[in-house]
Amino acid sequence: DKHLLGTKGLSAGELESILDRARYWEQHPVKKTNQLQGKFVANMFFENSTRTRFSFEVAEKRLGAEVLNFAAAVSSVQKGESIYDTVRTLESMGIDAGVIRLKPNGLLAELASKIKVPLINAGDGNNEHPTQALLDLYTIREQFGEFRGLHVAIVGDVQHSRVARSNLWALKTLGARVSFCAPPGMQAPELAEHAPYVTIDEALTADVVMMLRVQLERHEGTLLSSAAEYRASYGMTVERAGMLKPHAIIMHPAPVNRGVEIDDELVESPKSKIFRQMSNGVPIRMAIIERALS
Ligand code: CP
Repeated sequence: DKHLLGTKGLSAGELESILDRARYWEQHPVKKTNQLQGKFVANMFFENSTRTRFSFEVAEKRLGAEVLNFAAAVSSVQKGESIYDTVRTLESMGIDAGVIRLKPNGLLAELASKIKVPLINAGDGNNEHPTQALLDLYTIREQFGEFRGLHVAIVGDVQHSRVARSNLWALKTLGARVSFCAPPGMQAPELAEHAPYVTIDEALTADVVMMLRVQLERHEGTLLSSAAEYRASYGMTVERAGMLKPHAIIMHPAPVNRGVEIDDELVESPKSKIFRQMSNGVPIRMAIIERALS
């Protein structure tokens, strides 16, 4: 299956081969190859993005592909055209692969069953965000060398997080221990059988502390009484960062609400890998585009 819909179901070997190929691209920092010359890749974003959309575009251009950028806001979606008809339209024009981000849950799998060209999930509701998890895995492996024996604590808005889910499936496959830490209104009870919910103090004992963005746009305004209260109870404050293990790292998929889930001065501190994660997004997405088109 050339679609990449999620990390759930990918084997350790498949995950590692993507990480290894990304490492190859990192070690061969050519600005551009002609490897995918003549191939057309459409980036179809039905929900906003900065990192995922542009790092896919950089990756595609570095591989020499022709890039089509589709933005729902300036398309016939505004006239009521469906997601399926939009993707079929681009497929009928001869694209070789599609990168797609969708807001509604569950639509991507159905779409992939009807579309012949490989589709790459660039964010699927709160279900999965596999390319983010892969760049996170890459960042963790770069730091620690392996996954077995590592404790990764994922802290924050787990309920709405496709990043948490994709990381959970992949990290467990690779042998890491995963725990969640979330306020009661931001937990995903169905995930509790896969990873325990722990206190913030316990989360701070992890090797990797992955902070999640509080998805203000997905809450109705009732769950989050105040940003200051959230920071005090669950934020990575300077004080909490001082309690981390010497070798521990802080991650965050970004965009970051500075001063809410993580203090401003920690974002670019030595323990933070946040901008390193973004850099790693390019070689990871090169490996993923290659895999889809090979
Ligand atoms: N981390 C991430 O997916 O960021 P964007 O929403 O900006 O793509």
